Formats: sequence, C-alpha cells, structure tokens
Amino acid sequence: HRHVDHATPDKVDTVLAKGHFHAEIPDYEDLAAYQAAGGYAKLAELRASGNWEEVQEMVLSSGLRGLGGAGFPSGRKWGFVRANPGPRYLAVNGDEGEPGTFKDRHYLERTPHLKLEGMLIAAWAVEAERCFIYMRDEYPAVLHILRTEIKALETAGIVASGYIELRRGAGAYICGEESAMIESIEGKRGIPRLRPPYVAAVGIFGRPTLVHNVETLHWITRICREGPHILSSIEKNGRKGLRSYSVSGRVAHPGVHLLPAGSTIMDVIESCGGMAPGHEFKAYQPGGPSSGLLPASLNDVPLDFDTLQAHDTFIGSAAVVVLSDKDSVRQAALNMLRFFESESCGQCTPCRVGCEKAVKLMQAPKWDTGLLDELCGVMADASICGLGQAAPNPIRLTMKHFPEEI
Ligand code: NAI
Ligand code: SF4
Repeated sequence: HRHVDHATPDKVDTVLAKGHFHAEIPDYEDLAAYQAAGGYAKLAELRASGNWEEVQEMVLSSGLRGLGGAGFPSGRKWGFVRANPGPRYLAVNGDEGEPGTFKDRHYLERTPHLKLEGMLIAAWAVEAERCFIYMRDEYPAVLHILRTEIKALETAGIVASGYIELRRGAGAYICGEESAMIESIEGKRGIPRLRPPYVAAVGIFGRPTLVHNVETLHWITRICREGPHILSSIEKNGRKGLRSYSVSGRVAHPGVHLLPAGSTIMDVIESCGGMAPGHEFKAYQPGGPSSGLLPASLNDVPLDFDTLQAHDTFIGSAAVVVLSDKDSVRQAALNMLRFFESESCGQCTPCRVGCEKAVKLMQAPKWDTGLLDELCGVMADASICGLGQAAPNPIRLTMKHFPEEI
C-alpha cells in the first residue's frame, strides 16, 4: 500500500496494452504540436542566455503562489533552493490525492508539455541535476502520456536520457505531503519528516530540492512565455490572479473551472451552470476535506489564499464540493474523518489515535462537543504534519455552523 512501484516503462506499457487499467488516452497536445506552436523556444532561449534572477522576478511579480494548496510564493522557493550548494534536485508533486481535486489531471491530460517546459525552466533556474515526477497511480492515462512524452523529449535532445524520472505513487494520500513524497522517492515508506529543515535545504537524498505542484508549472511556462500580467492584471473583489477550481457535488456541470481568484462560491456555482435540478444550496467544502464545510450563508467570501482565515479555514487546492438540502453535513464530516483515519500514516499519536477517537465520537447520536473540542485542540497543536493538524477542521466547522445536525 505505502510504497513506490519502481516498474519499468515497458512494464507499464505492457499493463496498459493489456487493458488492465482500462485507460482511455485522451487527445492531447503532443511534442510536435506543442513545438509547432512555439513550445520549448523559451526554454532554449533561457538555457542559452537567460538570467535566472530576471525570471524569478517575473514569477514573483506575477503573484504566482504554490497551487498544491499551501500558496507559498513560487519564486521565493527558487531563492531558498539556490541558497544551498548543489547538487540540487527538482520534484514535481503529482500525487493529487485531496478528495475533490482533479485539476492537475485535467491539465496533464490536455497540455502535458506546458507542465514539462515549466518543470525544465524551474530546473534550469535552480540548476537541478535531475527531475523526479511523482505521479499518482490512479491516473493511468497521465502516466502513459508522460512516459510517451518524456521519451519524445529525450529523442528530440531537449533533455538527456534519464534526466526526468517518472515515479509512480501507490495510493497513499500521505505521500502527497512533500517530505513523505521524498521518502517515497528514496524508496522508503512514505511518512512525513519533521520540518525544519525544509526540503529546500534537505530534500531528496539529503540534497536541496525544489518541489512544485503540477499546475504551478503550467503557470511558470505561461508567465515566461506571455508575461507576468497574465495573472497580475486579473482582479476581482480585491484579489489578483486566477484559480482552477475543481468543482463537484450538487452542481449542474461539475468540472475544472478557471476563474478569477476573488470568486465567491456563488460565482463558482454559476460557472457550473447553477445547482443540479431539484437541489437547494446548503453547504460547501472550499478546499478539500481538510478545509471542512462552510454554510451557504457564507456566500460572499472570495475563495482565495488567506481570505478564509477569518472563518477558520483555507482554500487549499480549491477542491470545491457543493452540498444541497438532500445532504447531511454531519455525515459528510464523518466521512472526511474516516478518510483521515484511514490515511493517517500512524507516525504520531495525536493524529493516529485522534482520528480514530473522533470517528467514534462522531457516530454517537449526540456529539460530545466538549470532548471533541478538546480532542481537536490536541490534534491541531501536536500532530507532525498537515493531515493531523487540519483533520479537526470538519469537526470544528460542523459544530460552529450546523449545531442542529449534531
Ligand atoms: P506549507 O505551508 O508548510 O509549505 C508549502 C511549501 O512551502 C512547501 O514546499 C515548503 O517546503 C515551503 N516552505 C514553507 N516555509 C518555508 C521556509 N521557511 N523555507 C523554505 N521553504 C518553505 O504547507 P504544506 O504542508 O506543504 O501543504 C499544505 C497544503 O497542501 C494544504 O493547504 C492542503 O490544502 C494541500 N493539500 C493538497 C493536496 C492535493 O492533492 N493537491 C493533498 C493534501 C493537501
Ligand atoms: Fe502521520 Fe498523521 Fe502524524 Fe502526519 S499527523 S505524520 S499523517 S500520523
């Protein structure tokens, strides 16, 4: 369950050919099409005569923040990594495991080279000796596309053979936590490390490592090719930039919707063609289960980094799930805690025992809110990583906004 399968490309292709994964390979922009539209010209130009600090300045001025969910300014990471002596590595976090998040898959299945060029630009900027792409195994079509296109890049001489290594995750949510991902890349059981040191200083095999999410790379390429204004010039409700909302639940047309970062839940629902017929908007998950559930009355908050702090939550990877009058928030919150209980790596007691205990308490006909509150405090304060620290959010927000259900 919690290991990396070091399957060879041939093995993967054989399995795909046998149809074991039932992978449908969508039409996507391959290397020839991407190059015909000017792709990889910017990378070549930068490699020949670029100044990494100028590129970093562009990325910083665009306002691009890490789109895995934490929103750390992407350009600043380059500086942290470069401050440490080489050899350095780059890792792409493609372990998109947050329930409700599917934007990275959406983009990879359409324009993989926008991501690969962004990765190579970032690798150039920090002088990475090697790139690792850690991709979740639940995306067989993406794996197939990446295998094919990495091979094409090698054949075209854009990268040396073996420069990009594709690693398959094996279904453990915790391997999306960057230090657990690095443990997994190193061939060990994926469990989070204590931070600091941050991976920018001590990452893969102890070397400085730049970690970027897939969608972040998409925007790095576009900023370099089109300019920082493609994000910085878009403004709504006092927020700048764009967000890819993965929307599911009781909406008419679920999917990935690219909207201004200042969009509210009403804008997001509208972009999905409204609520599904016969459903009345009741609650929403703004950014994965770790963000819990908010009531429909909080419908005017921009769904962007930092803006949800006042409501004790965050936007994270923008995995929006819309609930209706036909849904029970209490049951949804319990389901979220069951997920965390199942996915906890078990390394620390507040998370391992806390999730299990929370699930038991949440199954009682009437919640013991005092005890749950105390338990939430211990989990949030004393867990090692984000999983245990954020697991109390669905409990706390349900107690705050939906007391009638518990
Ligand atoms: P974090 O804020 O601790 O770190 C974010 C990034 O900034 C990391 O790469 C970290 O190394 C770097 N960083 C932060 N402070 C630094 C410093 N002082 N020096 C050098 N580097 C520094 O957040 P974390 O725990 O990595 O991510 C949490 C987020 O992940 C949550 O918002 C959650 O929504 C999201 N998430 C996304 C999933 C997905 O499928 N996309 C799955 C699960 C969680
Ligand atoms: Fe593992 Fe949970 Fe502790 Fe994170 S908080 S290290 S997932 S036990």
